[in-house]
Amino acid sequence: MYIVRSDIMAFTKGMEQKTTYYTERYRPQFHFTPEANWMNDPNGMVYYEGEYHLFYQYHPHSLKWGPMHWGHAISRDMVHWEHLPIGLEPDELGTIFSGSAVVDWNDTSGLFQGKSGLVAIFTHTKDELQRQSIAYSHDKGRTWIKYAGNPVIENLGIKDFRDPKVFWHEETNRWVMVLAAGQKVMFYSSTNLLKWEFVSEFGSCDGAHGGVWECPDLFELPVDGNPNQKKWVLQVDLGDGSVAGGSGGQYFLGTFDGKTFLNDHAPSEILWLDYGKDFYATQSFSDIPEEDGRRIWMAWMSNWKYANDVPTFPWRSAMSFPREVELKTMSDGQVKLVQKPIREIETIRTEIVKIANEVGRECDNLLADVQETLFEIEAEIELLTASEFGFKLRKSGMEQETLVGYDVEKQVLVVDRDCSGEHDFSEHFKGSNIVNLPLTNGMLKLRILVDTSSVEVFANEGEIALTNLIFPDKEGQDVELYVKGGEVNVISLNLYRLKTTWR
Ligand code: FRU
Repeated sequence: MYIVRSDIMAFTKGMEQKTTYYTERYRPQFHFTPEANWMNDPNGMVYYEGEYHLFYQYHPHSLKWGPMHWGHAISRDMVHWEHLPIGLEPDELGTIFSGSAVVDWNDTSGLFQGKSGLVAIFTHTKDELQRQSIAYSHDKGRTWIKYAGNPVIENLGIKDFRDPKVFWHEETNRWVMVLAAGQKVMFYSSTNLLKWEFVSEFGSCDGAHGGVWECPDLFELPVDGNPNQKKWVLQVDLGDGSVAGGSGGQYFLGTFDGKTFLNDHAPSEILWLDYGKDFYATQSFSDIPEEDGRRIWMAWMSNWKYANDVPTFPWRSAMSFPREVELKTMSDGQVKLVQKPIREIETIRTEIVKIANEVGRECDNLLADVQETLFEIEAEIELLTASEFGFKLRKSGMEQETLVGYDVEKQVLVVDRDCSGEHDFSEHFKGSNIVNLPLTNGMLKLRILVDTSSVEVFANEGEIALTNLIFPDKEGQDVELYVKGGEVNVISLNLYRLKTTWR
């Protein structure tokens, strides 16, 4: 399959743009997708001079993975995106694999004549040789110059050696790079982004090892918002063997002194980022201003088990909706990472359907009047006597539905896409995600984002997240609040219809 981007651009710039742009079957309406062709990981996410930059692994000539470029888009709110020309193209050192970008505020690199500018740090890949390189931009990321001294980190014989994430480490006055290397991460340090020194490694014996480690991220967060109690979060993806099957992400909590990461937990303990099948290669924005103070990340909403086969055209893959991440002490005293959709989602909410203090019972769908494909649900439900309850989404007749349900006896939250729509493109697509989630005082809070071809579920204030693609018929617009074997009390439920961000 070969789609020439300029053809599509010409088409979309024509008269029909306002009504038909981004209306193809399965086209996400409030998630980021490239106009055409293949996308995977988010790269180079950085905020600079009022713009959030999103680069991404991109193959501009095919619907399948191939020679990687960095596609580029910008946004002022992380909700509405503007496509820009390709940021980085392959060159004599190879194709451009994943990486990050930072603002060199104090011109530590000497590349900006004393001013500030953007530096991208990425993996050059040629004939399976992976080395780290940099590029810099004098014009807010519009054009990039590859550094003449590339690569800045040579490969000393490691097969998988990629995905540099760089940040400024205030305490040691140095840049730090975390890099995936086989099934561990390596840390490098630098004063100028050009010369790097290896300082330590982590992870050979820690966490999950079902596949090669990829796309790490590392940052510090306050616990329960307390600036005097902070922990470092090391996020690492694994190419296979994740909790829901195939590729997925895990995280570690600990300390980091600019050189060494120490895990707070036992090496055997695994903390999963997301229990769904489609949340991979998560990266957070660099340089979000202190006044804002949020740590926000996005992931590639797919799974290497079937990413090349999902039934979308003329693009392939979407990013997750951006999430704010925080550390919170749970009722058992453990600190966990919690995630929630960024508050900017409120700007695309339109009509609201509200329910307050109503009893839900079998065969009495409180949302029977709702027909919708783009929406957000915020619900607080108290268990009375039911044995199971939850939502059936993107439902059509008896044939299709995506189920987000709670099984009272087993004390588990389930997302089941067995009947969610098209699935025969891959044997790995069907199935359900099941997570232990004992209720406190019989209460369950759910927040759910539903788009044309995805469902993102956040339970109990983001303590558990589950992200999944679905490919339902466009007629699948019914929403059901279902209850089995008794009753629940719907303390509050807000269903917001959402607007497209693309037209
Ligand atoms: C993760 C990944 C990265 C690599 C990129 C190549 O999905 O495999 O490790 O840099 O994709 O496109």
